[in-house]
Amino acid sequence: MSDQADPRGDLLMRTMAMPADTNANGDIFGGWIMSQMDLGGSLLANEVALGRVGTVAVSEMNFSRPVKVGDVVCTHGELLKVGRTSITVQVEVWVKPILTPEGGMRYKVAQAQFVYVAIDEHGRPRVINR
Ligand SMILES: CC(C)(COP(=O)(O)OP(=O)(O)OC[C@H]1O[C@@H](n2cnc3c(N)ncnc32)[C@H](O)[C@@H]1OP(=O)(O)O)[C@@H](O)C(=O)NCCC(=O)NCCS
Repeated sequence: MSDQADPRGDLLMRTMAMPADTNANGDIFGGWIMSQMDLGGSLLANEVALGRVGTVAVSEMNFSRPVKVGDVVCTHGELLKVGRTSITVQVEVWVKPILTPEGGMRYKVAQAQFVYVAIDEHGRPRVINR
Protein backbone atom coordinates (compact mmCIF):
# COMPACT_ATOMS: atom_id res chain seq x y z
CA MET A 1 0.00 0.00 0.00
CA SER A 2 1.25 3.49 -0.83
CA ASP A 3 1.92 6.09 1.88
CA GLN A 4 2.08 8.80 -0.80
CA ALA A 5 0.02 11.77 0.42
CA ASP A 6 -0.73 13.46 -2.91
CA PRO A 7 -0.96 12.52 -6.59
CA ARG A 8 1.92 13.20 -8.96
CA GLY A 9 1.15 15.65 -11.71
CA ASP A 10 -1.96 17.48 -12.82
CA LEU A 11 -5.56 16.31 -12.66
CA LEU A 12 -6.36 15.18 -16.21
CA MET A 13 -9.79 13.59 -15.82
CA ARG A 14 -12.42 13.02 -13.12
CA THR A 15 -15.38 10.66 -13.35
CA MET A 16 -17.53 8.26 -11.31
CA ALA A 17 -17.11 4.47 -11.38
CA MET A 18 -20.40 2.95 -12.55
CA PRO A 19 -21.99 -0.53 -12.14
CA ALA A 20 -21.59 -1.27 -15.88
CA ASP A 21 -17.80 -1.29 -15.39
CA THR A 22 -17.60 -4.00 -12.71
CA ASN A 23 -15.80 -7.34 -12.90
CA ALA A 24 -16.98 -10.71 -11.55
CA ASN A 25 -15.99 -9.65 -8.01
CA GLY A 26 -18.24 -6.61 -8.14
CA ASP A 27 -15.23 -4.25 -8.14
CA ILE A 28 -14.30 -2.04 -11.09
CA PHE A 29 -12.69 -3.87 -14.01
CA GLY A 30 -8.97 -3.18 -14.43
CA GLY A 31 -9.40 -2.71 -18.18
CA TRP A 32 -11.77 0.19 -17.56
CA ILE A 33 -9.23 1.78 -15.21
CA MET A 34 -6.49 1.35 -17.83
CA SER A 35 -8.67 2.99 -20.47
CA GLN A 36 -9.18 5.99 -18.16
CA MET A 37 -5.40 6.17 -17.69
CA ASP A 38 -4.72 5.91 -21.42
CA LEU A 39 -7.30 8.62 -22.19
CA GLY A 40 -6.03 10.95 -19.47
CA GLY A 41 -2.39 10.49 -20.45
CA SER A 42 -3.24 11.06 -24.10
CA LEU A 43 -4.81 14.45 -23.28
CA LEU A 44 -1.48 15.58 -21.81
CA ALA A 45 0.42 14.05 -24.75
CA ASN A 46 -1.89 15.81 -27.24
CA GLU A 47 -0.98 19.15 -25.68
CA VAL A 48 2.75 18.42 -25.83
CA ALA A 49 2.58 17.03 -29.38
CA LEU A 50 0.26 19.81 -30.53
CA GLY A 51 -1.79 17.18 -32.31
CA ARG A 52 -2.67 13.52 -32.60
CA VAL A 53 -0.84 10.79 -30.71
CA GLY A 54 -1.00 6.98 -30.57
CA THR A 55 -0.27 4.83 -27.53
CA VAL A 56 2.80 2.73 -28.26
CA ALA A 57 3.66 1.22 -24.85
CA VAL A 58 2.52 0.84 -21.26
CA SER A 59 4.94 -0.24 -18.53
CA GLU A 60 5.10 -0.67 -14.77
CA MET A 61 1.31 -1.06 -14.60
CA ASN A 62 0.31 -1.51 -10.99
CA PHE A 63 -3.10 -1.89 -9.33
CA SER A 64 -2.67 -1.33 -5.61
CA ARG A 65 -6.28 -1.15 -4.32
CA PRO A 66 -9.73 -2.00 -5.71
CA VAL A 67 -12.08 0.64 -7.07
CA LYS A 68 -15.71 0.45 -5.94
CA VAL A 69 -18.90 1.52 -7.68
CA GLY A 70 -19.56 5.17 -6.83
CA ASP A 71 -15.92 6.06 -6.20
CA VAL A 72 -14.80 9.31 -7.78
CA VAL A 73 -11.95 8.28 -10.09
CA CYS A 74 -9.30 10.94 -10.67
CA THR A 75 -6.61 10.46 -13.30
CA HIS A 76 -3.42 12.46 -12.81
CA GLY A 77 -0.45 12.74 -15.13
CA GLU A 78 3.09 14.06 -15.11
CA LEU A 79 5.26 14.54 -18.17
CA LEU A 80 8.40 12.43 -17.73
CA LYS A 81 10.15 12.69 -21.09
CA VAL A 82 9.80 14.12 -24.57
CA GLY A 83 11.81 12.33 -27.24
CA ARG A 84 12.11 12.89 -30.95
CA THR A 85 8.59 11.61 -31.64
CA SER A 86 7.58 10.08 -28.29
CA ILE A 87 6.13 11.41 -25.04
CA THR A 88 6.32 9.49 -21.75
CA VAL A 89 3.72 10.23 -19.10
CA GLN A 90 3.53 8.94 -15.52
CA VAL A 91 -0.16 8.30 -14.87
CA GLU A 92 -1.73 7.76 -11.46
CA VAL A 93 -5.34 7.00 -10.54
CA TRP A 94 -6.65 8.15 -7.18
CA VAL A 95 -10.12 7.61 -5.81
CA LYS A 96 -12.23 9.50 -3.36
CA PRO A 97 -15.08 7.44 -1.86
CA ILE A 98 -18.01 9.81 -1.52
CA LEU A 99 -20.98 7.42 -1.17
CA THR A 100 -19.89 5.80 2.10
CA PRO A 101 -20.24 7.36 5.58
CA GLU A 102 -16.49 7.08 6.19
CA GLY A 103 -15.71 8.55 2.75
CA GLY A 104 -13.50 11.53 2.21
CA MET A 105 -9.83 10.59 2.18
CA ARG A 106 -8.42 9.99 -1.31
CA TYR A 107 -5.93 7.22 -2.03
CA LYS A 108 -3.97 5.85 -4.98
CA VAL A 109 -5.33 2.76 -6.73
CA ALA A 110 -3.18 2.41 -9.86
CA GLN A 111 -0.15 3.79 -11.68
CA ALA A 112 1.75 3.17 -14.91
CA GLN A 113 4.01 4.78 -17.49
CA PHE A 114 2.40 5.43 -20.87
CA VAL A 115 4.41 6.17 -24.01
CA TYR A 116 2.67 8.04 -26.82
CA VAL A 117 3.97 8.79 -30.29
CA ALA A 118 3.05 11.96 -32.17
CA ILE A 119 1.51 10.90 -35.46
CA ASP A 120 0.74 12.64 -38.73
CA GLU A 121 -2.44 12.40 -40.79
CA HIS A 122 -1.28 9.01 -42.12
CA GLY A 123 -0.68 7.57 -38.64
CA ARG A 124 3.12 7.73 -39.05
CA PRO A 125 5.49 9.03 -36.34
CA ARG A 126 5.92 12.80 -36.48
CA VAL A 127 8.79 14.85 -35.01
CA ILE A 128 7.65 16.91 -32.02
CA ASN A 129 8.37 20.61 -32.34
CA ARG A 130 8.96 22.23 -28.96
C1 LIG B 1 2.62 4.50 -32.73
C2 LIG B 1 3.24 4.03 -34.05
C3 LIG B 1 2.79 4.95 -35.17
C4 LIG B 1 4.76 4.13 -33.90
O1 LIG B 1 5.32 3.63 -35.06
P1 LIG B 1 6.74 2.88 -35.01
O2 LIG B 1 7.16 2.59 -36.39
O3 LIG B 1 6.62 1.78 -34.02
O4 LIG B 1 7.64 4.06 -34.44
P2 LIG B 1 9.20 4.07 -34.17
O5 LIG B 1 9.80 2.72 -34.08
O6 LIG B 1 9.75 5.08 -35.14
O7 LIG B 1 9.26 4.71 -32.70
C5 LIG B 1 8.68 5.97 -32.46
C6 LIG B 1 9.01 6.39 -31.05
O8 LIG B 1 8.35 5.53 -30.14
C7 LIG B 1 9.30 4.93 -29.27
N1 LIG B 1 8.87 3.57 -29.03
C8 LIG B 1 8.49 2.65 -29.94
N2 LIG B 1 8.15 1.50 -29.33
C9 LIG B 1 8.32 1.71 -28.01
C10 LIG B 1 8.16 0.90 -26.85
N3 LIG B 1 7.73 -0.36 -26.94
N4 LIG B 1 8.43 1.42 -25.65
C11 LIG B 1 8.87 2.70 -25.53
N5 LIG B 1 9.04 3.53 -26.59
C12 LIG B 1 8.77 3.03 -27.81
C13 LIG B 1 10.63 4.98 -30.02
O9 LIG B 1 11.72 4.93 -29.14
C14 LIG B 1 10.50 6.31 -30.72
O10 LIG B 1 10.75 7.35 -29.79
P3 LIG B 1 11.61 8.70 -30.18
O11 LIG B 1 11.25 9.10 -31.59
O12 LIG B 1 11.15 9.75 -29.20
O13 LIG B 1 13.04 8.35 -30.03
C15 LIG B 1 2.86 2.56 -34.38
O14 LIG B 1 3.56 1.68 -33.51
C16 LIG B 1 1.37 2.33 -34.24
O15 LIG B 1 0.59 2.77 -35.06
N6 LIG B 1 0.97 1.63 -33.15
C17 LIG B 1 -0.44 1.44 -32.87
C18 LIG B 1 -0.94 2.62 -32.05
C19 LIG B 1 -2.30 2.31 -31.51
O16 LIG B 1 -3.22 2.00 -32.25
N7 LIG B 1 -2.43 2.42 -30.18
C20 LIG B 1 -3.65 2.12 -29.53
C21 LIG B 1 -3.74 0.69 -29.21
S1 LIG B 1 -3.74 0.52 -27.45
